[in-house]
Parts: sequence; C-alpha cells; structure tokens
Amino acid sequence: MTTFHVKTFGCQMNKHDSERVAGQLSTSGYKPIDDIEEADIIVFITCCVRKHADDRLYGNVDMLRSLKKKKPSTIIAVGGCLAQKDNNRMFEKLPHVDIVFGTYNQEGLIDMINEVRGGGRVLNVSEENIGLSISPALRQSKVHAWVPITIGCDNYCSYCIVPYVRGPERSYPIESIKKAVSDYVGEGVKEVTLLGQNVNSYGRDLYGKPRFTQLLDNISNTEGLERIRFTTSHPKDLKEDVIDIVKEKRSICSHFHLPVQSGSNRVLGDMKRGYSREKYIETALKIRSSIDDVSITTDIMVGFPTESEEDFLDTLDLVERVSFDHAYTFIYSEREGTEAANFKDEVAKEVKNDRFNRLVELQNKHCLESNKALVGRKLKVFVEGRGKRGKQNLSGRTDTNKLIHFSGDDTLINRFIDIKVDEAHSFYLEGEIV
Ligand code: SAH
Ligand code: SF4
Ligand code: F3S
Repeated sequence: MTTFHVKTFGCQMNKHDSERVAGQLSTSGYKPIDDIEEADIIVFITCCVRKHADDRLYGNVDMLRSLKKKKPSTIIAVGGCLAQKDNNRMFEKLPHVDIVFGTYNQEGLIDMINEVRGGGRVLNVSEENIGLSISPALRQSKVHAWVPITIGCDNYCSYCIVPYVRGPERSYPIESIKKAVSDYVGEGVKEVTLLGQNVNSYGRDLYGKPRFTQLLDNISNTEGLERIRFTTSHPKDLKEDVIDIVKEKRSICSHFHLPVQSGSNRVLGDMKRGYSREKYIETALKIRSSIDDVSITTDIMVGFPTESEEDFLDTLDLVERVSFDHAYTFIYSEREGTEAANFKDEVAKEVKNDRFNRLVELQNKHCLESNKALVGRKLKVFVEGRGKRGKQNLSGRTDTNKLIHFSGDDTLINRFIDIKVDEAHSFYLEGEIV
C-alpha cells in the first residue's frame, strides 16, 4: 500500500491544512506512516512568517536529497505559505522536489501526484482557485478539531507576509461552520478551536454581515461540545460583545490570545496595527474585570525598524501593566515585499538580542506569578494524553489553556477531571486528582 507522511511547520492554520492534506491522501487510499524515510509520498506544509522559518524548511528539504537518491520513486511535495511566497524560485532551487503547490491549490494535490506519476514535475501556485476548501480532515486528535472560520487576512500590518501568501480575508458561512462542528462532535470531538488571523472580523464579507458573536452563540448550542477556543483576537476589533459572550457561555473558554506586538504608540502606528497602547490596556483590563479566572496571552516583537530604547521601555511597561499569562516573543525579521522591508533598519543585532532577553526575563516572571496564583485551587482539566514528565504520567489543559501534569490512570485520557494544583512553574503546573 502506498504510504504518506505530512510534516508541518508554522501556525495552527497550517496544522489544520496538514490534516486536510492527510484527509485527501487517506480518502484516496494512501496510508499515513510515522517514519518519514519509509514514506512513498512526503508532503511539507511550510511557513514563511520569519526568515528562520524559511531557513529551517530549506535545511529540511535539502536533507531529503539523499533519500530521493536512494529511493527515486519517493514523491516529495512542498506546499503552504513559503511555497506560495517562493514559488518558481523554490521549484528551481530544489530539483529533487516533485511538486511545489501554493496555499490556494492544496485541494488538487491528488491530481498533482498523478501527474508526477506520469513523469515530470509540477509547479502549482496560481491564485485563481480562491474558493474555500472542503476536503475532509484526517485529525491528529480524536477529541479536538481545528475549525477555520476565515482564511486570509486584510490587515496588512507593515511587517507581515501573511496577507501576501494567504490572500484576502474570506469567511466560511455560519451554517457550514455549524455543520462541520456538529459532524466533528458526532465523531467524538469535545473541543474545537476556531481559527482566523482576526476572528473578530469574521463575517464582514458575508451576506447580512453576521458577527463573530453570532457564530459563537450558534456553536455554543452544539450538544456534546464541551469546549470552544478561538484564535487570534485582534485588539483593534475585539469589542465588548465578545467579552460578554465568553463570560456568559460555559463552553466558551476563558482565554484570549490578543497579540499586542509593541507597547509604543509610535511603533504601533508604523506597524499599522490600528490601536494605541491605551486602547489595548483598556481592552485587556476590561477582559480581566469582566471575567473571573480569565487568561490573556499575546505575541510581542522587538527590534522593529526604528524601535528606540524608549519605545522598548514602553513595551516593558505595557507588559507590567497587563501581566500576560503567557507571551510568544519574537525578534523582528524583515520580509521582502512587506511595507516595513522598506523602512530603514536602525536596530543593531546585539540591541535586538538584548531587548529580547530583557523582555523574556520579565515575561517569565509574569508567567510564574500567574501560575503561582493557582496553587491550592481545584481546576477542571481536560486530560489530553500521556505527559512527558517522569512520574507524572498524564497531562491536560485548563479552560484557560494552562498545561498541567499529574499522575493517573490512562483510562482518564480524553476525559474531564478535577485537579488540585500543587506546584507552579513558568510554563506548566503540577497537580493531583481530587
Ligand atoms: N494574525 C495574527 C498573527 C499571525 S503571525 C495577529 O494579527 O496577531 C504570528 C505572529 O508572528 C505575529 O503576531 C507576530 O508577532 C509575529 N510576526 C509576524 N511577522 C513577523 C516578522 N516579520 N518578524 C517577526 N515576527 C513576526
Ligand atoms: Fe499579519 Fe496583521 Fe494579518 Fe495578523 S492581522 S496576519 S499580523 S497582517
Ligand atoms: Fe501561519 Fe506561517 Fe503561514 S504563521 S499563515 S504558516 S506564514
């Protein structure tokens, strides 16, 4: 039987795309396999949000050169955001890759594979097929499903490549999202994560302009669905109605991923983010005052062109004020084709590194503090699987998306249980079943 292996880089959107690719391949009779070297078809789903992501991919695909030499019948396909960005350049740079396909074209992968079988290579990065994909997903988890509600992005933040490789924002109709969610629940799914680059702008392109809260309201009525997560919230578009519905509906998790990027108004302006530090802080404090036990996480970038020490201190100050539960921190990476690539890069590498380290140090302190506040508390945890920590064999997540390790029987996997928190660390909790 023909086997395949899908390797994913990048964000949750790509994780979902990979599940769709795997779905297509398995519906066509191919079998998933863990060992990449054994696979007859290898598919990479790539990211290009920072330069590091590009380098990693080229390094990885290069390694497959020897594999292709040993077993020339292996079909290697590279898709996703970097393939969309580099298209012809990638096709020429990687002659041992048989298929390069873009983010608009993954639905046609089977045809591309058949074409390669007939001899030759395939480059398919056209942006014409702009329809929303509908192929079935082969999910990694039995109980969790990714559900895209929009694809693409219209925001064009000045540093970001995503709108160029994912296209304009398009929303899936409420009815089709509802149906996807209830089908998943029928298959045993208990938790869904709604995905969009800016979930708060959901529906603007649809007839009647349904709001994100209407979608949340609709989905929260799905019988058997225990948890609804959503990401990413955009600070410029997150309004009180979303905070209210999260507070009101038990199944909607009390967690907002609200990327701030910078705490300096001048930098936020240059980034074209569409909000001020004051507006951001007001929204974050509103979330904290409205919902008990809510968590707020964020993305922060340092070293944006023209970021001064003063701008950076504004970022540290905002981090102090909001006290994030967790933050993904990045060093600015220039992306060709974006507006910021034309800005003069005034921040030296050592300065960027120094700012990054100072930010991480402060944020780690906050992570630990927010986790310490939970010690002694009893929390509802969804048991996700075997943990990776010595004697504590299981791990799970709280409603607020905190990772917790504890000991227990394997039969608890995929179930909800109460755990008392015993110990806090920066990135995880330890506890015991009560
Ligand atoms: N749609 C989301 C972000 C998607 S990209 C939002 O608007 O928040 C994920 C994160 O990557 C961003 O939040 C940003 O912090 C980071 N990022 C994007 N472009 C980057 C770049 N050129 N250099 C460094 N980090 C970048
Ligand atoms: Fe990129 Fe901005 Fe769109 Fe997020 S909102 S994907 S950062 S352009
Ligand atoms: Fe995601 Fe990277 Fe594409 S962050 S949308 S996979 S560029």
